Amino acid sequence: MRNVELDTISDAFMATFSGDADPRFRVVLTSLVRHMHAFAKETSLTHEEWHRGLSFLMATGAKTNEHRNEFVLMSDVLGLSSVVDLLHSPRGATPSSVLGPFHITGAPVLPYGGDLKGECAGPAVIVMGMVRNRAGQPLADVDLEIWQTAPNGLYSNQDAAMDPMALRARLRTRADGSYLFSTVRPAPYTVPTDGPVGDILKGMGRHPWRPAHFHFIAQKPGYRSLVTEVFPSDDPYLDSDAVFGVREGLIMPLLRHDDKGALPAHLAIAHAVELPFFTVQFDVVLASDESSA
Ligand code: BEZ
Ligand code: FE
Repeated sequence: MRNVELDTISDAFMATFSGDADPRFRVVLTSLVRHMHAFAKETSLTHEEWHRGLSFLMATGAKTNEHRNEFVLMSDVLGLSSVVDLLHSPRGATPSSVLGPFHITGAPVLPYGGDLKGECAGPAVIVMGMVRNRAGQPLADVDLEIWQTAPNGLYSNQDAAMDPMALRARLRTRADGSYLFSTVRPAPYTVPTDGPVGDILKGMGRHPWRPAHFHFIAQKPGYRSLVTEVFPSDDPYLDSDAVFGVREGLIMPLLRHDDKGALPAHLAIAHAVELPFFTVQFDVVLASDESSA
């Protein structure tokens, strides 16, 4: 192929695939390149802008290491992570939401009714719910992983003063699909802004805040693993989450209680709970493995 023109270069690119190319690779790369060509034409991209874009990607790579992935953060703040989530959230199941960079493996197992609050200051928050399948049947033995920030807005792996496994736990649903634990209210926090992604936010005039949330991963053999989050309904950043992770079905009220009438039985810290305390109900629906969206 020679003498490519603006209106023939995308087809010329496609013609370079050999018959041996993996079919899905061909679909994805063809679409990506078509959109890139269209983007450059639509914006009449200058050499200087093209170069700035490449420098931005290089800086993103330079900021990425085994503890921090600036590419994932870029995908998050550009909304791409959420587009992929939304494309593959099965209907009738709990919506998925971003995993984020603060998940670590090895969280301690917490029995039903166990406590994560420990010495954290602030009122107790009692989190409870049921895990069911899409037919409404309770699911026993679902593995739930939970992690959240302390009231200072930091995860345990961001704060040397915290136990490395603080505010992290693995729970298992009981035979009736229920789970229960006590904790403390998480706080809103900012995504990292000291790298190239921070420059995007600054350039757009956008703030870097995420609304407070509890992270959940729910897993059971035979079911699609769910990575999701629960957001207290009174958070000021629900409508401007820096990573577009908020879905209506993930916003839950924290109900305030001024007497112990609503204290669930089986709570490990029942005797020590001070007033007021809060409760939040988050029920989860899992789709079976073979289900498509
Ligand atoms: C988080 O929720 O932990 C998170 C998600 C995306 C980017 C940064 C943090
Ligand atoms: Fe988070």
